[in-house]
Amino acid sequence: MTTLTDLANKYNSDKGDRVGCCHRYTSLYESLFAPYRDRPISFLEIGLQREFCQHQPDCPSLRMWLEFFSQATINGLDISDFSDVEIPRATIFQADQSDARRLTEIAEEVGPFDIIIDDGSHASAHQQVTLGALFPYLKPGGLYVIEDTHWQPERSVERREGIETMLTIFKRFSIYGESIKSPYLSDERCREIEQNVVRCTFSHPFVDENARPQKRSMIRDISRRVLKGKSRQSDQRLFKLIILEKKAMEDRSGFETTAVQMTCDAV
Ligand SMILES: C[S@@+](CC[C@H](N)C(=O)[O-])C[C@H]1O[C@@H](n2cnc3c(N)ncnc32)[C@H](O)[C@@H]1O
Repeated sequence: MTTLTDLANKYNSDKGDRVGCCHRYTSLYESLFAPYRDRPISFLEIGLQREFCQHQPDCPSLRMWLEFFSQATINGLDISDFSDVEIPRATIFQADQSDARRLTEIAEEVGPFDIIIDDGSHASAHQQVTLGALFPYLKPGGLYVIEDTHWQPERSVERREGIETMLTIFKRFSIYGESIKSPYLSDERCREIEQNVVRCTFSHPFVDENARPQKRSMIRDISRRVLKGKSRQSDQRLFKLIILEKKAMEDRSGFETTAVQMTCDAV
């Protein structure tokens, strides 16, 4: 059976293990998204990519998701204009993810969603605005994934002004049990997220079965330090994904809760 990593490589997405940064997120997504694979879910990805690779000039990951989720309605959103791209079963919106009002309009039109992936600008302020706008449109039991949390764009206001990363905000919340605070989220939305996120996972997918044992033990040590709240600056950079799992409905009519394991990658 074709794996999600095969599909990422086929469509030249850097979520696989052959193209660009080779993030290898697909190894984790494969198991995380398996329960959704043949269901008619509603899916949204922010950040589509253009001219990344001459062999696949548009929307590599969107094409990958379409093949993986055979029954899904796939939506994509990007600040760039993709109006010349027509992909059956996919709808593409042009929007700036820092524009909460526009995100709400789109979510009203095609939401709510079972899975949302933020692979847009990666700027923390944008990620926070986007979470605030879209969290209400994540279905009960749904998954909200924020990619590339180890990095902030060069010359960004985040770097200049030291805006907190999502990693810091959610580490405080899920590891230290502190309230979520953000200048980009209303208090009401912060409380809503606190009350409805049942699991918050920091992850750096580990796929290399043949990784040297010392690498594996180093990763285990990092995981332990992070969980005990004793992480070092360099440890935090290794966590590339934040996965938020929304509380399923009381009557369990949403999807079964997915158990998300903490995983780490070879360094
Ligand atoms: C890393 S690429 C997406 C890669 C793609 N998901 C994949 O796996 O192949 C990031 C995309 O985010 C888009 N982007 C950057 N800033 C954005 C913003 N403020 N709002 C929406 N999209 C943005 C860029 O145009 C670019 O296409």
